[in-house]
Amino acid sequence: MSRDIKIKGAAVALLLGVGLTVASEARTEPRTGEEAYLAINSVLQSPRCMNCHPMGNAPLNGDDSLAHRMNISRASLKGLQCNTCHRNENGKTLHSPPGVPGWRLPDPEMPLVFQGHTPHSLCEQLKDPKRNGNRTLPALREHMDHDPFVMWAWNPGPGRTLPPLSHAELMSAVDLWIAKGAPCPN
Ligand code: HEC
Ligand code: HEC
Repeated sequence: MSRDIKIKGAAVALLLGVGLTVASEARTEPRTGEEAYLAINSVLQSPRCMNCHPMGNAPLNGDDSLAHRMNISRASLKGLQCNTCHRNENGKTLHSPPGVPGWRLPDPEMPLVFQGHTPHSLCEQLKDPKRNGNRTLPALREHMDHDPFVMWAWNPGPGRTLPPLSHAELMSAVDLWIAKGAPCPN
């Protein structure tokens, strides 16, 4: 009898333990502007966004963000055009080119680099009109909410992971960040 109670007690403790582990692994909602920015940053520097916002002139490819094959570069657009391979829709098979109309990298004059930044320096760049394509915060929000390249990241074609937040979670973070005055974490 007492043994039975002990076993049941152990089972309850185990279940509670499992419950607590799951709860503590769940993502915590950002509360401050700095936390909201860190959530945004986790998307900006995820492969789906960073691969088109690279440090160098070549786009990156795949979840490990290796340099694009075939000597493709933002500086060589007079050569092979992106849309020779990247069509209006994603290719259906593994390693076929993803597609959105007008697929391209940011221009060399305004490269919008996301790779290689600390969260602080990317945050400062993101809200600097001289380095963000002359965007105000509302324009930046609008871009994040509707831009076809941004939206593509949640429908990237076979074999590519999604950003770490849903698009709705990203927009909540953007709204909180802007409401708090767009602060940058140290
Ligand atoms: C196919 C390549 C491509 C992908 C994928 C892509 N972008 Fe971009 N992004 C661009 C280009 C090109 C521009 C410049 C367009 C312009 O200024 O009109 C741009 C501009 C931006 C800007 C505005 C400039 C700035 O720094 O303030 C933001 C913000 C942005 N992208 C965020 C993202 C996010 C977030 C993702 C992923 C969810 C993403 N992008 C995925 C190509 C891409
Ligand atoms: C000769 C064909 C070809 C050309 C031209 C080409 N690409 Fe690609 N690209 C591909 C293929 C194929 C893939 C997918 C490779 C894979 O999944 O392993 C790809 C993948 C990518 C990715 C990675 C997407 C991701 O998130 O993993 C980016 C970014 C990209 N290309 C950008 C560009 C840009 C920008 C241009 C023009 C400057 C361009 N590509 C020109 C064939 C091409």
